[in-house]
Amino acid sequence: MEILHTAAELQARAEMWRREGRRIGLVPTMGALHEGHLQLVRAAARECNVVVATIFVNPTQFNNADDFRLYPRLPEADAALLAPAGCTALFLPTVEQMYPQPTVLRFDFGPLERVMEGAHRPGHFNGVATIVSKLFHLSCPHRAYFGQKDLQQVAIVRQLVADLSFDLKLVAFPTVREADGLAMSSRNRRLDAAARAVAPRLYQGLQLAEELVRAGQATPSAVQTAAAGFVAAEPQITLEYFEVADAHTLQPLTEWQPGRPVALCLAAHLGGVRLIDNVVVS
Ligand code: PAF
Repeated sequence: MEILHTAAELQARAEMWRREGRRIGLVPTMGALHEGHLQLVRAAARECNVVVATIFVNPTQFNNADDFRLYPRLPEADAALLAPAGCTALFLPTVEQMYPQPTVLRFDFGPLERVMEGAHRPGHFNGVATIVSKLFHLSCPHRAYFGQKDLQQVAIVRQLVADLSFDLKLVAFPTVREADGLAMSSRNRRLDAAARAVAPRLYQGLQLAEELVRAGQATPSAVQTAAAGFVAAEPQITLEYFEVADAHTLQPLTEWQPGRPVALCLAAHLGGVRLIDNVVVS
């Protein structure tokens, strides 16, 4: 596995791979890799001849300075995991490489970003769309792999690909969970023992909501109230939102739409760490 540090190096490599007729798979990450990321890399290795993983803690998508400062950074350990998973090139740029000058372009994804993460983290999806566009341009991938734990991010990137005609296939992969149900996340490393012990309650709340949806609970708001109440009953957890939404538009549901999948999404703080999770009920 080769390690590339500059945008120019990645661009030159991508041009070469394209000339050679190789299929390029891109796995963009912020590092502190876990099994969820490695499954994306393995899938890319099965479906493409070149796998580019990127590790860049992107400052423009953080709306909280502490979250950016404390985000785990483990590039050596990450590199050791990537090579055996089938990664052929790791792109590890500096902030100066990715942002030689402040960006002025602003993305607006309309209703898609006025809810959930977009509503609670102002500017977050502008930063995501900016860095993802840069990475698409530099690596010219045929396929790009994202985890469904970031359900709204997948929807935003899908819109980005369509609106800007990026010639690539977006591949979304199911959330990978710990044995007790906690969704794998790089931020889990920051949970202390007490917070880690109660963290599975987030997924339990989503499972409770899923059961209520499947059982034909009268209204989305009844599901929301019951599941949010269950999660928030744990004193160590501060629930930021619990949404019962249309899985395509991500807009909150006021009544059931027969035949349309339902997204159950939450964000919560525990032990100073903010976590998100979701379940889609089809
Ligand atoms: O999901 C992430 O880790 C990040 O949002 C991404 C897609 C790598 C962009 O910085």
